[in-house]
Amino acid sequence: MRSLIDIQELSVREIDELMDCADDIIEKPQKYADACRGKKLATLFFEPSTRTRLSFEAAMYELGGNVLGFSEAQSSSASKGESVADTAKVVSCYADIIAMRHPKEGAPLVASMNASVPVINAGDGGHNHPTQTLADLLTIRRERGKISDFTIGFCGDLKFGRTVHSLISALSRYSGIKVVLISPDELKLPGYIKRDILEKNGIEYSENSDLAEVLPSLDILYMTRVQKERFFSEEEYLRLKDSYILTPEKLLHAKKDLAVLHPLPRVNEIAVGVDADPRACYFKQVLNGKYMRMALILKLLEVTV
Ligand code: NCD
Repeated sequence: MRSLIDIQELSVREIDELMDCADDIIEKPQKYADACRGKKLATLFFEPSTRTRLSFEAAMYELGGNVLGFSEAQSSSASKGESVADTAKVVSCYADIIAMRHPKEGAPLVASMNASVPVINAGDGGHNHPTQTLADLLTIRRERGKISDFTIGFCGDLKFGRTVHSLISALSRYSGIKVVLISPDELKLPGYIKRDILEKNGIEYSENSDLAEVLPSLDILYMTRVQKERFFSEEEYLRLKDSYILTPEKLLHAKKDLAVLHPLPRVNEIAVGVDADPRACYFKQVLNGKYMRMALILKLLEVTV
């Protein structure tokens, strides 16, 4: 039995197979409509979510399965003091697979060590978010035809942005990837990711605080929200929240085949006027997330179609 806590637990080959499966689901959804009949997914969300929880639920329904769960810690026994380990043991009695989001880094790992069913990390604090990475990778592959030989800029909150951490970790295993890190000084990518992932894998990277300066060199731009909930001071958040705002004017200087990604929710970092630009891929990314979660559920439940 396997869980998915960190994207590194999947080999590049397995990720490629998940993307092949998602492509097949997109082409022939009917083939998968009964694949998880009789199976239950539990969504245990101790932190707010729209896309991740609903896409997991939609994914399970589209596989013919059922869903149970909660969407806030207050409505679960965590509010009475139950531990993550106990919650995982209990929910294993009701469900065949668990998707968990938690504000504490490592909570889904603890759940996976105590559950008797697979656990999927649906975001743990400012740490990791592997299923968003699966959505990001499928979007890159569908837009560019392959995952290699491009320059990707990560812009915004690189310190707390867990989607950034997981995507960098995944991309470090593909070839010909160059990374440009665009953030204010206060929100730079953590040193451990630079050392243990970028440097260890020989990935060429640079750091810059000026989006306009590097935009023309990018093939992919991954915008992110400043992660308000991880800040200790409201004042600091207010000072940094509008550090970068992508506008149609700024995009005039970008490549014609740039792909703009964003895990969403967006606050101000992409002007609504950008949405009509064919380079805006963030709503496609949402849909791709559902298909990759379908593929992942099939894999972890060992269902063959
Ligand atoms: C992201 C998250 O939860 O980390 N959202 C998502 O799952 N698509 C990004 C964010 O909240 O900024």
